[in-house]
Amino acid sequence: MQLDKNFLWGGAVAAHQLEGAYDIDGKGLSIADVMTAGDNIKKLPRRITSGVKKGEKYPNHLGVDFYNHYREDIALFKEMGLKAFRTSIAWSRIFPNADDEEPNEKGLKFYDDLFDECLKNGIEPIVTLSHFEIPYALHKKYHGFMNRKSIDLFVRFAEVCFRRYKGKVKYYMTFNEINNQADICAHHLAQEGAVIPRDSIGMEYLMYQSAHYELVASALAVKKAHEISEDIKVGCMIAAGPVYPNSQDSRDNLKALLTMDYKFWFADVHVRGSYPNMILKHLRRRNINIDITNNDLKVLKEGIVDYIAMSYYSSNVVRYNDDNTDYEYRGSKDYVNNKFLETTDWGWSIDPIGLRYSLNWLNDRYDLPIMVVENGLGAYDKVESDGNINDDYRIDYLKSHIREMMNAVLIDGVNVLAYMIWTPIDVVSASTGEYDKRYGLIYVDMNNVGVGTMERRKKKSFYWYKKVIETNGGSIFK
Ligand code: BG6
Repeated sequence: MQLDKNFLWGGAVAAHQLEGAYDIDGKGLSIADVMTAGDNIKKLPRRITSGVKKGEKYPNHLGVDFYNHYREDIALFKEMGLKAFRTSIAWSRIFPNADDEEPNEKGLKFYDDLFDECLKNGIEPIVTLSHFEIPYALHKKYHGFMNRKSIDLFVRFAEVCFRRYKGKVKYYMTFNEINNQADICAHHLAQEGAVIPRDSIGMEYLMYQSAHYELVASALAVKKAHEISEDIKVGCMIAAGPVYPNSQDSRDNLKALLTMDYKFWFADVHVRGSYPNMILKHLRRRNINIDITNNDLKVLKEGIVDYIAMSYYSSNVVRYNDDNTDYEYRGSKDYVNNKFLETTDWGWSIDPIGLRYSLNWLNDRYDLPIMVVENGLGAYDKVESDGNINDDYRIDYLKSHIREMMNAVLIDGVNVLAYMIWTPIDVVSASTGEYDKRYGLIYVDMNNVGVGTMERRKKKSFYWYKKVIETNGGSIFK
């Protein structure tokens, strides 16, 4: 029993986390360019500032300078054996002011060159259109996806990309981890819909309205891609992860079931083209009146996705509480620790079986091909005196997760097209803005205090993953 010979072993990144060159060749500011650095040890969260402020640290301005190193990096990816490279297109490189009349040619050319370089090296580029970033101008002028106008601007951006990269890029996804918004925290809202919450508007209303406009924009983009070429496949991108009940108590079980529904309804809309009743009832019960037109409902049906892309890092456990008799979703308020699992230095539970669970759950619910487009371990790495980075903990994490992914395919029969490591090379962490939260199989010499040469260095996991790919996963079971 083996994976298909065309199985896409890959690595994934996002433009704002590695490109740098934030104001080069006509690029406009993006929402990620106004996010400060956080700090895990000092427990400092990232902040979103109003424009770029003097004296603040913005790690995404520099990233790992992939903009100037991409040829060297892709040569390393080829050596690692990657068959696919998932990255995103920085929207503000293409439309610096969001509503420019013409796209920025230099921005388009950068991605042309990047995709050509991938293809030349036998690596298939896979593209996310909006990975936690929209042009900052879109936020400033239109309040991001709180404004219906954003739909047209997104679809125009998507269409420009579909046409320009036709024949080079086959797989796209629209909004990265669109369902993160379910947690209704300012950071997630800003990253997803790039709506920076204002006091006067209820956060929940904000979330449902901007998510609706994003879902319509996504459906229109899918339709557009199919009109341009039937070879272009567009997927949704969902942050996956099971929510387990804390006990055998039926109330804990119901709570877990409904929590999953509240987290994954976004995928229902992407895949089925309509809202689940539960969400419509919820909106009515809470008196949340969002702008949904009959035409929107038609568009959602016409733009259903071709596949499901998912990220997977960890799972959660939920417990019923007496002050939550309606079982409505309250995010982490109802979460408890899982005593069976260890956690990373950033407190994320490590649960390889949760990946197999997620694949089965998505397969049962939607019956579409699935790509695992993110999975990896954020950890502190140490460069030894001999220059080596012996990241056995990362290898252990990846090995156990890839094994469960393969079990889902080979034993459970789930149709998985791809598995991509987050990340083939160190990048800036999205949630904390740190360099020292490293996921890469290639080390980049740059740290939280901004000291480093940007030199690239292969970690032990680099050689390990190369072997996994060479054996089409066979080495995992040895
Ligand atoms: C996913 C995102 O949520 O998790 C990535 O799509 C992110 O952009 C990754 O980097 C890991 O999260 P973090 O916060 O540790 O970088």
